Amino acid sequence: MYLDTATAPAPAHVAPSVRPPATGTSTESRCVVNSHNEWDTLEEIVVGRLDKSVFPQRHPSILGGAPKDLYLALLLLGGRKRRPRKVFVEPAAKELEDFVRLLESEGVTVRRPEVMDHSRKYGTPQWKSKGCVTACPRDCFLVVGDEIIESPMSWRCRYFEPHAYYQLFKEYYDQGARWTSAPKPPLRNTLYDKQYKIPKQDEPLRYVINESEIVFDAADFIRCGRDIFVTRSNVTNLAGINWLRRHLGDGYRIHEIETLCRQPMHIDTTIVPLGPGKMMINPKYVDRSRLPSILNSWEIREAPKPDKVRGGLFNEVGSMCSVWLNMNVLMLDPQRVVVDRSQPSMIQFFKDWGLTPIPCSLKFLGPFGGSFHCVTLDIRRKSTLQSYFQA
Ligand code: ARG
Repeated sequence: MYLDTATAPAPAHVAPSVRPPATGTSTESRCVVNSHNEWDTLEEIVVGRLDKSVFPQRHPSILGGAPKDLYLALLLLGGRKRRPRKVFVEPAAKELEDFVRLLESEGVTVRRPEVMDHSRKYGTPQWKSKGCVTACPRDCFLVVGDEIIESPMSWRCRYFEPHAYYQLFKEYYDQGARWTSAPKPPLRNTLYDKQYKIPKQDEPLRYVINESEIVFDAADFIRCGRDIFVTRSNVTNLAGINWLRRHLGDGYRIHEIETLCRQPMHIDTTIVPLGPGKMMINPKYVDRSRLPSILNSWEIREAPKPDKVRGGLFNEVGSMCSVWLNMNVLMLDPQRVVVDRSQPSMIQFFKDWGLTPIPCSLKFLGPFGGSFHCVTLDIRRKSTLQSYFQA
């Protein structure tokens, strides 16, 4: 369903911008934007788009998150070529539309960004780039309660991607949502390690970005009420984590999760909360014994190994992601979870944990950057701000 601004509800009273106190539970907000965690009952969501996308231009930052073979191929493809329609775009777009219909049939309002032509060149006084794709709103924005926070992203090919959401968020703003952007980073050459090589298994983790600017992707954070987890990554530095910490203030605690992934980028294939007290972890990326002690009171289960996919691009040619997209699920409420149909082991895992899996297919979305969690941004859940951990 596409809501017309003219028929949207009248603006709600705009509450003064005061952070809730650090303890206790708030009463449910009636703001159009209201989401505190990954599992409360979903009412409204944004789903990305694939229209007019291009392969990203090759730049060291991309190697921080994309498979090496794809990165090498970008020398030929990057920024110049649209993705081939028949093989890449059409099957993925069809799946994405089916996913939208599934959400709507479950009673969720779905909103979409505007179409953006990613082949257009743009620049700052320091550099030039083209765009990439508008598939993953999860990376560009973090919703914390009634506030939409725009991420200061470090990929130059994503610099203007948030503009595709501007009109929509202006509408939410007019209805009382808070709307913030972290300082827009200049993304100078000095931010990146031009010599960056993916660290080997026995080498210490290193990053393609340094601390000279404040950068993060929202998808490196995952929300559990007053506690938020983050992975430092090739798109999120300590300055970015600290910016968010300071911005959110005393009402929130941000905990860092160490990852064993050699090219960390986005937490939503590393740890995935499935409801209060239930955390799914990636056995390859997470050393259980090094999880923050706050998680001791939660049940932690390791995700099953991804099943091999036939006939799709889930883990094959041109994917921007690893095979662990099987973990990239979307909770419709603490019971129902949207999971990829091609992943029977994950479907069984959810059943065994007492959840109701809803199979859907996004196996062609890998080349566009993700699966159900990545391609969405929850705007409103029936949610109150709570603490799910002992202090
Ligand atoms: N880098 C992750 C992996 O390859 C994929 C994360 C995708 N998430 C996202 N929000 N775009 O396992």
